[in-house]
This record gives sequence, structure tokens and C-alpha cells, in this order.
Amino acid sequence: MTPQSGPTATALPPFSQRLRERSMRMHQDAEGSTYLAALTAGQLDLTAYAALVSQHAVIYQALERLTADLADDPIAGRFAFPELARRPHLEADLAFLAARGIPTAAPTEATTRYAERLTELATWPAGFVAHHYVRYLGDLSGGQAIGRLIATAYGLVPGGDGVRFYVFDDVKPKPFKDNYRLLLDAMPLDEHEQEEVLDEVLLAYKFNVDVLASLAEQVLPQYPQVVS
Ligand code: HEM
Repeated sequence: MTPQSGPTATALPPFSQRLRERSMRMHQDAEGSTYLAALTAGQLDLTAYAALVSQHAVIYQALERLTADLADDPIAGRFAFPELARRPHLEADLAFLAARGIPTAAPTEATTRYAERLTELATWPAGFVAHHYVRYLGDLSGGQAIGRLIATAYGLVPGGDGVRFYVFDDVKPKPFKDNYRLLLDAMPLDEHEQEEVLDEVLLAYKFNVDVLASLAEQVLPQYPQVVS
């Protein structure tokens, strides 16, 4: 045995680190969304914003139904944090927008496909975790800045009516994310299963990129001042 061939030489980095590194490219694609850029730059209006809230409502309904269905699962159940629940916040945002005369938008095809995939994961708890990670850790990261930008761009109060989706009342993002990464690292997955979850994380990003692209296609043509 050479000095380099012991267990430490072959050990993989922590799973949370592998997830972040493997998905960096897809994260850049998500960040680069033309719809998000126009929305956060204040080039759209509340109707265009409502289109995003409406997609989130469908996606989180599927995600949080799955969270509830898998609450007793030894892998998925560890991620069932009630304080993450976004559905009540999305319903409040949609109600606020409706009171302003702004209707809920229909789900795009990309949103429907995303929700269908989530439904399929009832039989694969580790795959559910892949999606849980992409949405909630994203919401607690870049999502926090996105929420503030949207509020100030469209005359809303940051953290108030219309942008409650971005508010986590009982979560401090930094310690929560640190603990979440420890939970990811502790998942009892062999290398093959880790690879499958890594692939599902990339798929989850792809669904999100597709949803944002579907909004760009549907919404942006109505805002000719937007340079895309
Ligand atoms: C303008 C758009 C976006 C910006 C500026 C942004 C920015 C960021 C930043 C700065 C972090 C690192 C935060 C930290 O480590 O504490 C982060 C993490 C993350 N973002 Fe985004 N993001 C954006 C969009 C998205 C989207 C659309 C998704 C997917 C739906 C997403 C998913 C994630 C995830 C899962 C993480 C956690 C990565 C990890 O540490 O494992 N982000 N984002």
C-alpha cells in the first residue's frame, strides 16, 4: 500500500460540497434568467410578478404535499421543517395581488412537468431531498435578495404584503443552512445513490431554469422596453 492509497486519499468530499460544486453551472443558468433579471431590475410590473408567484404556488403545493407524505420516512423526514412551509405565504401573496385586481396566472407547461416529477418522487425519498435542497436552500440564499429587490422595485414593503414568500419567520438563514448541510452529509447513501441524487439536483435546477424560461417567453414580449 502506498502512502496515498489509504481511506483518506480516496474519501469523497462531504455530500453537501459535492452538490454545490456539481450544480454550480446550473446555478449560473438559473441566475442568468432574463425574466428574473427584468423582474428584479424593475422593468416589469405586478402582473408579470404574479406570473412567478402563480408558478411557485403550483410547485410548492406539490413539494409540500410530498414533504407531508414522506414525513415519517427516515431519510426525507429529517428535512420536514414546518418553518420552511411556503404554501401559506404564497396564498397570502396571491390574495394580496388578487385584491389589487391582479389575477393568478395559469401554470406553464414547464411548471406542470416540474410538479409531475415531484409527484413521482413519493417512492424515492432521497430524490425528494434533491428537490427540497434546490428550492429551500435557494430561497434562503439568493432568494432573500430577490425578494428585497422585487419589493422595492414594485412599491411593496420588503417582507410585507405581496412578498411574504421570501419571509421565513423562524429561520436564521446562515445557521439553518449550516445545519442543513450537515443533514445532507449525514444521509445514508452509498456512492451510487449519491450520484443518483446529484443527477436529480441537476434535474431540479433544469426544471427551475425551464420555468423561468417559460415565463420569459410568455411575459417578456408584453414589455417591449425590456432589452433581453
Ligand atoms: C438572481 C438569481 C439568483 C442569485 C443572485 C442567487 C445567488 C445565490 C448565492 C449568493 C448563493 C450562496 C449563498 C450562501 O452560500 O449562503 C446561492 C445559493 C444557492 N442558490 Fe441561488 N441565486 C439565484 C437564483 C437561484 C435559483 C433560481 C435557484 C434554484 C431554484 C437557486 C438555488 C440555489 C441553491 C440551491 C443554493 C445553495 C447552494 C449550496 O450552498 O449548496 N438560486 N444563490
